[in-house]
Amino acid sequence: MLRFLFKNKLETTSNQPVSKSIIVDTHEIEPLYAYIEQYSGIALQKSKVLVQNHIIILCERNNISSFGELLRKIKQDEILFKTLVDSVTIHETYFFREKGQLEEALTQHKNSPALSILSAPCSSGEEAFSIAILALEMGITNFQVVGIDISGSIIQKAKNSSYTKRSIKFLPKALLEKYFTNSNDTYIVKKELYKYVTFLQCNLFDDKIYQIGMFDIIFSRNMFIYFNDEKKIQAYKRLESLKKNLDASIYLGHADISSKLSQYIRNRN
Ligand SMILES: C[S@@+](CC[C@H](N)C(=O)[O-])C[C@H]1O[C@@H](n2cnc3c(N)ncnc32)[C@H](O)[C@@H]1O
Repeated sequence: MLRFLFKNKLETTSNQPVSKSIIVDTHEIEPLYAYIEQYSGIALQKSKVLVQNHIIILCERNNISSFGELLRKIKQDEILFKTLVDSVTIHETYFFREKGQLEEALTQHKNSPALSILSAPCSSGEEAFSIAILALEMGITNFQVVGIDISGSIIQKAKNSSYTKRSIKFLPKALLEKYFTNSNDTYIVKKELYKYVTFLQCNLFDDKIYQIGMFDIIFSRNMFIYFNDEKKIQAYKRLESLKKNLDASIYLGHADISSKLSQYIRNRN
C-alpha cells in the first residue's frame, strides 16, 4: 500500500497558500474516482497530479485528512460532492464557440413554432447567450434556451451574466455593443436577452433532468470528453429522451464523439 503525506505548500486559485497534511493512500483514490464517475460521469485519470492537488486543497479546507474520509463524507453530503466535482472540472468556454454548428442548428429548426433549445452543459452561460444572440440576429424571436450544468457555482456565474474580455473575444464589435454594456472591461449581458435564457443547476445523470422540459435542439458540447464510452452512451440516451419529437436534433462537440458512440448513434438511425 502506497501512502503519501503531503506537507508542502500549494498555491490555490485565489493565491492563498495552503499547508497540507493529507494522507493520500493510492488504494483510496480508485474508489473515490469510481464514485465521482458513477454519479457525474466524469472519468478522472489517476496520473493527473493537478486533479489530486485540487482534491487535496478541498480536503484541507474541509478538515478532511484522507481520500477515504472524503469518500465517506461525499456519500452523506451532496453539497460537498458538488464542490468536489466542481474542483475537478474544467469550465472553459467562450461566446461563439463552434459558431457554425449553432447557426446550422438554428437554420434547420428556424420554422419550428416556439423553438426550445437546451445547452447541456452551459458552463458560465456563454453558449446559451450565443444561441440567443444568433437566433435574434436570424429573426427568430419565439424561442427559449435552457442552460444546465452540474456546477452550482458556475450556474451562479451564468446568472450573473458578466464576462471578461477573454470570453467575448470572438464576438463582433457590433453585436457586443448591441447586446452588452461595458464597464471597465466587464461585459454585462443586456436585460432584453434574459427573457430568452434560463439557467438551472442539474446533473445530466440525475433524474431531475427529466423535469426540465422537452427540446427541439439539444446542444451537448465539450462534456462527453470527460466520460468513458459506457457513460457517453448513457448520457446520449438521456439526451435522446429530452427530444420533443422526431424532428428534434442533438448536436455534440467534435471532440465528444468516440467510435463506440458514433456506432451506437448509427445503429439507432
Ligand atoms: C468545458 S465546459 C463546456 C461548456 C460549453 N458547452 C462549451 O462547449 O463551451 C464542460 C462543462 O460540463 C459540466 N459537466 C460535467 N459533467 C456534467 C454532468 N454530469 N452534468 C452536467 N454538467 C456537467 C462541467 O461542470 C463544465 O462546466
